[in-house]
Amino acid sequence: MILEDAVAEKLHRTVKEQRLYSRLQEHGLSPRRKLLLVGPPGTGKTMTAAVLAAELGIPLFLVRLDTLITKFMGETAAKLRQVFDAVGSVRGIYFFDEFDAIGSQRGLANDVGEIRRVLNSFLQMIEQDHSNSVIIAATNHPEILDYALFRRFDDVVEYGLPDQGRIATMLKGRLAGFRTSKSTWKRAAEHALGLSYADIARAADEAIKNAVIHEQSSITEADLIQTLVERKQMSARLAGNKENGRPTNHAGSGPTR
Ligand SMILES: Nc1ncnc2c1ncn2[C@@H]1O[C@H](COP(=O)(O)OP(=O)(O)O)[C@@H](O)[C@H]1O
Ligand SMILES: [Mg+2]
Repeated sequence: MILEDAVAEKLHRTVKEQRLYSRLQEHGLSPRRKLLLVGPPGTGKTMTAAVLAAELGIPLFLVRLDTLITKFMGETAAKLRQVFDAVGSVRGIYFFDEFDAIGSQRGLANDVGEIRRVLNSFLQMIEQDHSNSVIIAATNHPEILDYALFRRFDDVVEYGLPDQGRIATMLKGRLAGFRTSKSTWKRAAEHALGLSYADIARAADEAIKNAVIHEQSSITEADLIQTLVERKQMSARLAGNKENGRPTNHAGSGPTR
């Protein structure tokens, strides 16, 4: 996994403190264990949860808040309670992916007041939790989050799009095993600027696929750049659609579409 230095540092610190859990506790200290991951799609937030689980050798539990919501308020609260009971009884990484997306769900959760109540009790439960599990919440939309929210976490980790150096590293890793010319990485990285890690991975796979289909053992610079440029056009189009269709605030007038 390729990370910005500041991100890597925060994650390493969490792993270190988690590993020294009991030593810290003997001194009345608690290791950091509540993380908020913020950043655009495809920058490694979900991947981070999996990597941390593997590093710490504890299970990863994925929780989707939007699936917890039912028509019946009491039921939703009870389900949320159950999740935090599990957090307290089975040590693991509890990953609340895109936890703020509950407002954009069509269907059961149309009631804005209900959504807000669920988010609030979720945040309260995070605050009140004193277990030894790791709680990670991720969001693509930091702008909609209340700043009061940030203080409930031990750390806020901000993910960004890769710079040219990291793009080149990503491409090199992904295309290892294929012959390419040396200058390729640098020039391809220039074209890929603005893409996410996930986009770059997909473009690289696309280039590999083309090479395999045509039974070639090398990937030309032109081919690689072409797949990157295509990916860029695609993601620009998707971003455009999203901006037009997305409510600016989840507490707004409910789902679009
Ligand atoms: N920082 C990264 N380093 C290496 N690969 C990455 C990184 N971020 C994303 N990827 C690639 O993109 C895929 C999707 O990333 P993901 O973690 O789901 O992004 P997010 O949760 O931020 O939307 C990953 O499985 C991985 O292949
Ligand atoms: Mg994700």
